[in-house]
Amino acid sequence: MSTLVTGAAGFLGSHVVETLLRRGDTVVGIDNVNDYYPVHLKRNNLELLKELGNFTFIEGDITDLPLLEDSFRKFKPTRIAHIAARAGVRPSIADPLLYSDTNITGTLNLLELSKQGDIESFVLTSSSSVYGNSTAIPFKEEDSATDKPISQYAATKKATELLAYTYFHLYGLPINIIRPFTLYGPRGRPDMAPWLFLKAALTGGVIKQFGDGSTRRDYTFIGDFVPGFVAALDRPMGYEIFNLGNSETVSLKEMLQVVSEVTGKELNIELLPMQPGDVECTNADISKARAKLGYNPQTPLKEGMAIFHDWFVSEGHHNL
Ligand SMILES: NC(=O)c1ccc[n+]([C@@H]2O[C@H](COP(=O)([O-])OP(=O)(O)OC[C@H]3O[C@@H](n4cnc5c(N)ncnc54)[C@H](O)[C@@H]3O)[C@@H](O)[C@H]2O)c1
Repeated sequence: MSTLVTGAAGFLGSHVVETLLRRGDTVVGIDNVNDYYPVHLKRNNLELLKELGNFTFIEGDITDLPLLEDSFRKFKPTRIAHIAARAGVRPSIADPLLYSDTNITGTLNLLELSKQGDIESFVLTSSSSVYGNSTAIPFKEEDSATDKPISQYAATKKATELLAYTYFHLYGLPINIIRPFTLYGPRGRPDMAPWLFLKAALTGGVIKQFGDGSTRRDYTFIGDFVPGFVAALDRPMGYEIFNLGNSETVSLKEMLQVVSEVTGKELNIELLPMQPGDVECTNADISKARAKLGYNPQTPLKEGMAIFHDWFVSEGHHNL
């Protein structure tokens, strides 16, 4: 049994690969190691993974169909963990075509190849962004607000969910869709708020607070998320969508308080207006994931941020 993991060099992908390797699975990772954020962070992740055992890495692009065909022929994966994407809401508004290429065409390539093979489980990583400004809080998987995405990023993610359904319907490809909610923790993404806040707090930099601090996020610790993701890979059940969040929502003001506490620093906050595409609140209803995946997030924000902080400092990211 071999699992193809796309986006293996990234934040979430590297954690999923690590967990699979540590339990003895054979993993083929693919990633184009693009420079959306500093490439050395992705290279560091890959170095760590290469030491863990049965891991083959292909540096390549999921929009490159011949490369993917070749990889499927050579490695004969039986499971797909599709994690690669152009992530980030604001950059998708600036460059929608780039987002469409990777997120839609790249996903379609993988689905096409999976219909031909012996794929027993396909996990597609969507996003909580698909809920847009839904007011039906907490968000449930069947919420029709997902038909009205408020950024190109969210629209590409919703599009992949629809394409996935078609491959389930036409070819019986078993697909579990994961909607992650603002993940944070070691190897986190440097463009995301938890990283930016830690960095600014530890270096005396400015924290940009968009809006009045009342926006709320369902911050989810990576160590809680990964077992849910892996359970989705291990339990194909047709076509299902799962929220993987913490299920507790924290205001921006509260988050900044936690950052101040874990770093022991006073914060230097600049107030700015809300950004286009930003949502007011994210909050996951995780009862379906609890019931069907045994998902059970346990880490309170302060504890998770303290772990993130310790990793951050140990890696020297607090240095200017
Ligand atoms: N981090 C979060 O809070 C969060 C929340 C919701 C959804 N997601 C989704 O989770 C997935 C992983 O996100 P992440 O936070 O780990 O981001 P990330 O940027 O760290 O990881 C994505 C990886 O995909 C790779 N990649 C991008 N385009 C590619 C292409 N065309 N071909 C091959 N590789 C490519 C990148 O190089 C990167 O290593 C994405 O699908 C993202 O949309 C993440």
